[in-house]
Amino acid sequence: MPVVDIQLGDRSYPVHIGPDLLVDGNIWKPYLSTGNILIVSNDTVAPLYLDDLLITLGDIPSEALILPDGEKFKTMDQWSRVLDTLVEMRAGRDATLIALGGGVIGDLGGFAAACYMRGIRYIQVPTTLLAQVDASVGGKTAINHPAGKNLVGTFYQPALVIADTGTLSTLPGREYRAGLAEVVKYGALMDNDLFTWLESNIDSIAGQDPETVTTMVRRCVENKAQVVAADERESGRRALLNFGHSFGHGLEVLGAFEQLLHGEAVAIGMAIAARLSEQRGLCAPGTHQRITTLLAAFGLPTSVPEPFDASSLLEAMSLDKKNSSGTRRLILLESIGQARIDTGSSDEAIRQAIVDCNS
Ligand code: NAD
Ligand code: GLY
Repeated sequence: MPVVDIQLGDRSYPVHIGPDLLVDGNIWKPYLSTGNILIVSNDTVAPLYLDDLLITLGDIPSEALILPDGEKFKTMDQWSRVLDTLVEMRAGRDATLIALGGGVIGDLGGFAAACYMRGIRYIQVPTTLLAQVDASVGGKTAINHPAGKNLVGTFYQPALVIADTGTLSTLPGREYRAGLAEVVKYGALMDNDLFTWLESNIDSIAGQDPETVTTMVRRCVENKAQVVAADERESGRRALLNFGHSFGHGLEVLGAFEQLLHGEAVAIGMAIAARLSEQRGLCAPGTHQRITTLLAAFGLPTSVPEPFDASSLLEAMSLDKKNSSGTRRLILLESIGQARIDTGSSDEAIRQAIVDCNS
């Protein structure tokens, strides 16, 4: 099975990718020889996969904390519950936290691990496609604050990531497709070969052919590994991973996440960013069309849904934390597989790109 190493000196770790890894004791055991173990999961994922994990742990003592499911529970209250549980267990600095779930559990569990006793070991066990290709790798941990998403958090790397692609079989189709938006993102921004491979494998990807899914996750993680190794704390290149996200976050600020999943909003954002790149002459004509054709083939949206429009989206994007001192900072394309950080787009050009995506 593939293993991708995230190379960060003494904070390096492997990402294991493939089916049936939850029950592969050989991978797990070296990490669990000492200290208390706390598994953090939610009430959707735990009934599906907690037993498998407990069987793998065998007679290694562990406890499980099952949180309510949903982004609205990525809060300080739930984070506190994790810390309270560690205290009640009398967990020491040699304890290990296992985050079993999607990006919400991974971010919240990782942030609790980062804070308890100034940092205990944690293992990411991502069970959504989005978490396997993005959230579980790279050490961004966070909870939400009423004033903003992921406002409170830290960079704190896991010791191990186990991406059991078999768990994706129970993921709702819409969540799987939303994860595919992040997959397309890697191809569009840094890996032309991946993009072409996606175009050639639409049916087996949509049908979740096990070997194809494992290859797809591996290729995304390899891309993320490269970026994270070069810029762990996002002082430069890592910002490229936000391709499509400024527009997506704008939609979120408008409240569109009642209507759109994160990946769906990112898909729309990538379509707008590609259109803008093309209209500004940064990339070749046809780039936007190629990206939207692939996104649409995966069942993803490529234009701003009603009741949102260009003006309200532009306004909402002004609050984006990636802007600095009033300049709009966007990730734009030079070609498929090559992105850049750009501050040269006027509001009028952005407005036009949004409108054109909807025409
Ligand atoms: P999620 O964690 O809410 O999972 C989506 C839904 O799928 C949930 O209802 C979940 O319970 C369910 N689910 C998870 N695995 C399942 C399975 N195998 N079978 C059936 N149902 C399953 O959402 P997500 O899309 O995984 O992650 C989104 C979160 O990730 C956001 O909070 C976002 O901020 C964060 N994120 C973090 C990073 C990072 O670098 N740390 C990157 C991207 C996103
Ligand atoms: N999801 C973007 C990053 O990890 O930087």
